[in-house]
Amino acid sequence: MFRYTPLALLCSAALVTTLSGCGQQQTSPQNATEVTAASTDNLALWPELTSPLASADTEKRVQQLLSAMTLEQKVAQLIQPDIRWMTVEDMRQYGFGSYLNGGGAYPNDNKNSTAADWVALAQAYYDAGVDATQDGSSIPPMWGTDAVHGHNNVMGATIFPHNIGLGAANNAQLVEAIGKATAIEVAATGINWIFAPTVAVARDDRWGRSYESYSEDPVIVKELGAALVKGIQGNLGSDFMQSGRLIATAKHYLGDGGTENGKDQGNNLDNEADLVRLHAQGYISSLDAGVQTVMASFNSWHGDKMHGHQYLLTTVLKQRMGFDGLVVGDWNGHGQLPGCTNTSCAAAINAGVDILMAPEDGKALYKNTLAQAKAGEIPAARIDDAVSRILRVKIRAGLFEKGNPAQSEFAGKQQWIGHADHQAIAAQAVRESLVLLKNNNQLLPLAPKQKVLVTGDGADNIGKQSGGWTLTWQGTGNTNADFPNGRSIFSGIKQQVEAAQGSVELSVDGSYQQKPDVAIVVIGENPYAEFDGDIKTLDYQAGKNTDVELLKKLKADGIPVVTVFLTGRPLWVNPELNQSDAFVAAWLPGSAGQAVAEVLFKTASGEIQYDFKGKLPFSWPKTADQSPLNQGDPNYDPLFALGYGLSYQDKITVANDLAEQINSIQSNSDSLSLLDRRPAAGYSLMLQDEQGLVTVTGNKAKSADQSLSLAAVNWQKQEDALLLDWAADSKAKLVLQAATPLDASAYAQLVVDMKWNSTPTAAVTLAQSCGADCGGVLDLAPIFATKAQGQWHKVVIDLHCFAAKGVKLTQLQQAFVLHSAAAYQLSISNIRFTPAAATADLSCPAA
Ligand code: BGC
Ligand code: BGC
Repeated sequence: MFRYTPLALLCSAALVTTLSGCGQQQTSPQNATEVTAASTDNLALWPELTSPLASADTEKRVQQLLSAMTLEQKVAQLIQPDIRWMTVEDMRQYGFGSYLNGGGAYPNDNKNSTAADWVALAQAYYDAGVDATQDGSSIPPMWGTDAVHGHNNVMGATIFPHNIGLGAANNAQLVEAIGKATAIEVAATGINWIFAPTVAVARDDRWGRSYESYSEDPVIVKELGAALVKGIQGNLGSDFMQSGRLIATAKHYLGDGGTENGKDQGNNLDNEADLVRLHAQGYISSLDAGVQTVMASFNSWHGDKMHGHQYLLTTVLKQRMGFDGLVVGDWNGHGQLPGCTNTSCAAAINAGVDILMAPEDGKALYKNTLAQAKAGEIPAARIDDAVSRILRVKIRAGLFEKGNPAQSEFAGKQQWIGHADHQAIAAQAVRESLVLLKNNNQLLPLAPKQKVLVTGDGADNIGKQSGGWTLTWQGTGNTNADFPNGRSIFSGIKQQVEAAQGSVELSVDGSYQQKPDVAIVVIGENPYAEFDGDIKTLDYQAGKNTDVELLKKLKADGIPVVTVFLTGRPLWVNPELNQSDAFVAAWLPGSAGQAVAEVLFKTASGEIQYDFKGKLPFSWPKTADQSPLNQGDPNYDPLFALGYGLSYQDKITVANDLAEQINSIQSNSDSLSLLDRRPAAGYSLMLQDEQGLVTVTGNKAKSADQSLSLAAVNWQKQEDALLLDWAADSKAKLVLQAATPLDASAYAQLVVDMKWNSTPTAAVTLAQSCGADCGGVLDLAPIFATKAQGQWHKVVIDLHCFAAKGVKLTQLQQAFVLHSAAAYQLSISNIRFTPAAATADLSCPAA
C-alpha cells in the first residue's frame, strides 16, 4: 500500500532533510515526500516536530565513524541476537551492534545471577564487540533489556507496580523517580538500554498487555510515558545520559492497544485521525523528552504489519515527527512480514526498521542481510541511514566515553539491586495506585488491634502480586524465595497488626482457628504476558468459583470482608463485589506488598496513615461482554467510570445485588480448553515417574528421575508448544491433572496438536484416569503410521475410545497422560475437549 522509496532519493541535492547520511539541515514538511501522494494525504494530521538533540558535532562524528566501516561491520550493527543464542565468540566474530536478554534470560541461564555475574557477561560481550583485531568495528555494543516494572529479570531487584497501577496513581514525578531508580538497577548489571516505556493506550481490556498500558486515556499515557523516559535517560539540558542514565524505548509503535477484539499482535482498524489522537500521544511526548529508540509493533494497521510500514515508520515518525534515533524491531517481528522469514527480511529494513530483533537467528539473518545489501536489495543509503541512527544513539548515550561496562559507577554493585531508596519509591507507588471501589459502612480503614484473618491465594504470594515480566517471561514459576527484597501483602498486614497487639492468621483457604473480627481476602489473576493473557470476555476466570465460595463462607459466618483484587485489568467481578464489604483494585503492585497494609490500616492510635488516592485508569465493566469500554463511547455505561476511586471521606454505598448472571454471548465456545500454552484454571501439568511428581510451572522441566524433559518451544507463536523428550526405558509420563474430578461426558472428542520427526520405535500411549484402578490406555501407533513426520497435525480422538477401555468420563482426574516406552521426541500443543466435529484418527468400538 505504501511504496518503498529508496532513501537515496530523499538525500538528493534537491531535497533537504535531516535524515542521517543526508546532511544535517532541518526538515521542511514538503520535502519528505517521494512516497505516493495518496499515502501522505493525511500527513498534516501528524504534528511536525524536530529532534530536540540535533547537533552538527554529533553528525560529524557519525559520519567519521561511518566512513571507516566496512559493509560487514555496518550490517552487524543492524542485527540483535538474544544472549541465549549468542556466545561471546559469536560477538567477536560478527561484531553485532546490540543484543538483548528476553524475558527470563539471565547470564549462564542462572536465575540467581548477581550484579557481578551480569556485569561479567556485559564486559565479555563488550570486549569481544570492540575487538578490532577480529572483525569487530570498535563500536561499543548496546545491551537491551525489558526492565518494564523495575529490573524485572534480576533476582532481588525492586519490582514496581505494572503500568496500569502507575496510571491509577497518575503521578508523573513518581514515574520519573521510578525510571531513574530502574535505570540505576539496570546500570548495576552493566546493561545500557531499557525496552520501556510501553506507551500503548489499551482500548480493549481483553488484550493480554493491558497492564503494560498506563490508561485507556491518551492524556495520562502521554504524560506518564514521557516521565518514564526522563527518569531513564535524564532530562534534556541537565542530566541527560549522565552516569546511571540509560537509553529508553517507546513501544510498540504504533496502535498496539487498539487492535480488534483486543487481540495481541492483531489488526488496528482506527482511522488515521484516531491513530494520532489515541495511539500516537505517548510517542509525541516521548520524542519531546528525547527518547532515543522506538520499538516497532507486531500489530497491523488496516492489515499492513507495522514492521513493514514505510509510511508510519519513515514518513511519519522519522520525517514528519523528526525522530532521528533508531527504530528497533520486536522479537522476530520482521519474520511476520509477507515474503519474510526470521532469517531474511530486507522489507523491514527498507520500511524503516533500523535494528532487527533476531533472538535465535542472528547469524543467519546477518548473512542474508549482508547478501541483500550487496545485491542492492537494501539500498546502500538505507544501510547508511540505519547505521547512522545507531551510531547517533550510541554517541548521545555516551557509550564511547563510558567504555568498559565493568568500570561504570554502578556496575556490579549489588547494593543497588533492590536498594532501600528504590523500595521506598515502590512502596509509595503501591500506596498511590490502590483504587477503592467499594467501602460500605466505612469498613476501611481498619483498626490494627483486632483479630484479622488473611486469606486467598494472593495473600502471601509475591509472584502473583508481581504478574508477568517478573523473573520469567510469563511471570510463572516464582516463589516468595525468588524475591529476597520483596514483601508479600500478608507480611505487611502481619507487621501492622502485631505491632498494635492485634492478632493475625494466614490461611489460604479461609479456614480459621479463632473467629476473626475481619477478613482480608487477596485474590485475582495469575501471571501472564503478551498474547498469553488475551481473553475472550472480561469474566474473571482465575478463581472464578472458588473465590466466590470463600467469600460466601466468610459472609455466612458473619465476618466483614475486605477483598484485595490483584489484576492486570478491570474484570467483571460482580459476584465477588456483592460478597465483599470493601473492595480494592490493587493491580499488580510488585515487590512492595507491605504498602497495601499501610493504606488499609489505621495507626494503633486511630489515625489514618495513608488515604486512597488511586483513580481508575480504565473503565470498569458492568457486564462481562462489555469490551471495548472507554470513556467517550456513545452509550458509555460502566459499573465504575474512568477516574472513579473512593477516599476515606466518601460515604458512598455500592449495591450488594449487582447483576450476576452472564448471558450466552459471554460464555466461551462449546469446547473446553485444557491446555493452551499452559494448563487451564483448575488443571496442573506434571511429569510423573516412579520417583515422584514434578509440577511444571515455567518453560522447562525434568521429571524426578530426569528421564523425561519438557521445554516450551515455538510453533505459531513464541513458546506455544511443548517439546517432550523421553530417554530410553523412561517410566515418566506427562500428566494433565484436574484439581477436582471433571465431568467430560458432554464432550465427544479430545483434540491435540502434535508434531514428530521420526516414527516411534516402541509404543507411544495416551491414557486417561478416573482414580485408583479406573482408567484406560490407547496406543497411538496408527496415528504415527498414517500422518507425515516433520509437520503439525491436529490429532482427534473420540472420547468413547477411552470409555471403551474403562474410563468413566464423568469422573476424569487425569485428562491426558502421555508416555513413550522408547527414546522419543514429540511436540504437543492445545489440548481440548470438543463436540463431535472432526473425523477421528483412531478407530475403536462405539461405546
Ligand atoms: C515484546 C517486547 C519485548 C521483546 C523482548 C517482545 O515479545 O513484545 O515488548 O521488548 O519481546 O523481550
Ligand atoms: C522468550 C522471552 C521473550 C519473549 C518475547 C519468549 O519466547 O523466552 O525471553 O521475552 O519470547 O516475546
